[in-house]
Amino acid sequence: MIGLIGGTGLLNFQGIEIIQRENFNTPYGKASDSFCLAKVENQTFIFIPRHGANHSIPPHLINYRANMWGLKKLGVTDVLAIATVGGISKNSQPNTIVIPDQILDYTYGREHTIFDGQSHPVEHIDFTLPYDLTLRDKVITYAKKVDFKCYSQGTYAAVQGPRLETAAEINRYEKDGATIVGMTGMPEASLAKELGLAYTAICPVVNFAAGRGDSQQGLSHEIITKNSEKLMTQLLSFVLGFIKDYGD
Ligand code: HPA
Repeated sequence: MIGLIGGTGLLNFQGIEIIQRENFNTPYGKASDSFCLAKVENQTFIFIPRHGANHSIPPHLINYRANMWGLKKLGVTDVLAIATVGGISKNSQPNTIVIPDQILDYTYGREHTIFDGQSHPVEHIDFTLPYDLTLRDKVITYAKKVDFKCYSQGTYAAVQGPRLETAAEINRYEKDGATIVGMTGMPEASLAKELGLAYTAICPVVNFAAGRGDSQQGLSHEIITKNSEKLMTQLLSFVLGFIKDYGD
């Protein structure tokens, strides 16, 4: 079953049948919100808004462990993680979608592992290829099938937030190899690996990163939210189409 994690601009959705809301405690505390069992045609899936129902949880305070553990407990096998980003490189301009294939992690101080040596013995997972190849491939193939334009490569720089970056930081991330920047991609992706969940990120590019394009002199979170909402309608119909097609 698919688990869909909604990011900025995708907090809830109209027109989807919500069958049930699940609230439970996890070994890591409370998840961002209730887990919604939803249905699109014959496919059921689980939805959770990463930032809480009212976008009240900042990226560094999201209980990533509880969210991912809860998805696993509910029988999710494949996770589609919608995560808005700023565009750094030419292949990630605003109003495009990127399916990243690599990650650079600049976050700190987040509860980032279930293998803490206490509840679980220490284990060092392989993270060479952070996103699930099969799931990524299915998303990219579906995008081609329905003529939905997306870039099938990108390196996601996961930053701490909640502040946006300086232009110099973006230059540094670009030198490191990053093409997009966002605040929530980690530790979500590595926790998915630890839990044995197939995970892929779908990243709508909603603004030029700091110091790039029309963000030369600055950018605001209002612009990010406005652009996220605009892109989300289109993205949501793509994602729901994918979920309907999933398993066929
Ligand atoms: N930086 C970090 N996170 C983001 C951005 C950005 O420019 N846009 C959307 N999420």
